[in-house]
This record gives sequence, structure tokens and C-alpha cells, in this order.
Amino acid sequence: MPAAKALRDRPYMSTPLRIAVLASGRGSNFAALLAARERGELPVEFVLVASDKADAPVLQLAQGAGVPTTVLDPREYADRRAYDFALFDRIGASKPDLLVLAGFMRIIDGDALKPWAGRMINIHPSLLPKYRGLHTHRRALKAGDLEHGASVHFVTAELDGGPIIAQTTLPIEAGDDETTLATRLLPLEHQLLTAVVALLAANRLALVEQGIVFDHQPLRKPLRCVDGQLVR
Ligand code: GRF
Repeated sequence: MPAAKALRDRPYMSTPLRIAVLASGRGSNFAALLAARERGELPVEFVLVASDKADAPVLQLAQGAGVPTTVLDPREYADRRAYDFALFDRIGASKPDLLVLAGFMRIIDGDALKPWAGRMINIHPSLLPKYRGLHTHRRALKAGDLEHGASVHFVTAELDGGPIIAQTTLPIEAGDDETTLATRLLPLEHQLLTAVVALLAANRLALVEQGIVFDHQPLRKPLRCVDGQLVR
């Protein structure tokens, strides 16, 4: 078994975890990370926010916080593969330890993301493995689920299919529609993502061939996020 690939070797107090965020839209998850950092709860440094959309509000958010931004327009590249290699080249130049996909609405080429295995996470608004892809709230409602939620997972070539680190759940209530469900879930997503990034910043999570290692023990099922705290 290969050794767990820690995100970094040195203790976090002296070296904040360097994070690049990829996002296509609003950026409320990034805002939650920024706010946690401001409160002194996340020992991280945001080295870049990258987007595929020049008008994504997340870019203004980043600029307002003094975080460098970059935009790559997919229309300027021959195909997805060319785009993704260019994107990750540019991201790599900012030397991040961790890549956080926070509402990045593109499928990524498997070869392009390979060098980032174990160093890239995504937040997805469903209880994976249920409802990979789009329209997760609609699909949970249509299926008559009693419970919905969000997951943070390591990114692999399989869309929304990488090893799941942690999940948050919420009950689906009578009368819920896509909007009410999404609105109630969003603050829970923010807590979930922040809590997982905090674990990574503290070097308590690693991805090895067999799966996720948490505090030196194999993680057999996703951590649960309860009131912002991750529990086994
Ligand atoms: C979130 O629901 C996230 O789970 C999904 O896209 C949405 C992004 O929201 N992947 P925001 O841009 O972070 O506000």
C-alpha cells in the first residue's frame, strides 16, 4: 500500500494550506470558506479563484477579498481536454496544496486531473452515490425521498463518483419544492465544506489506493456533519 499522500509535510501553524478554488457561479461556498478564515477558524491561504465564466459573481467576491483570479473561456479551446490541461497548468502555477471545486459546473478530463488525485475535492448537493450530475433537488423530490443532503468527495475521473469524505443531511418536508430544499440545504453545505477543509488543513485526511484515511484509520463510511462538526 502506498504511503498516505499528506497534503503537506509541515505543521499548519507555520504554513497555511494553499487553496485554489474553481467555481462557475455565485460563490456562496467560497464565501463561507473566506468567512471561516476571517474568523480565524481556517489556517489556509486562497492563492487563486479560477472560473470558466467571466461574469461569475465568485470572481468579484475573490477580488474584493484580495484573492487573485483567472478566467479561461472554454470557447477558446479546441476541446475539453485542451481546455482542462490549460486550466490545470494555470492553476498549478499558483502552487496550491488543495483544489476545491465549489460549484464548478464542468466535467473534467480524467487525465488532466490525475496529477491532483487526493488533492482535489468537490461539493455536490446530494447524498452520493444518489443523484450524480445535475438537478439533484428535483430528482430527490421526484423519487419521494424523505431525506436529502450534500456530500464532499475527493475528485476522480468518475463524475461525482470519487471517495466520499463527509455528508450533511436534512429531512424533506411536505410541501418542499426545489427552491425551498436548495435554500435549506445551502447553509448546511457551507458548514460541511468548511469542516472538511479544516480537516485537510490539519492534515487529518488522506486518500490512498484503498480509500480515505482519517486520523490514521480507514474511513469506512462518510463522516457526518452535525451542527458544523464532523463525526464518524
Ligand atoms: C452548490 O449547491 C454546490 O453544491 C453545487 O453548486 C452550488 C454552488 O453554489 N456544486 P455556490 O456557487 O457556492 O453558491
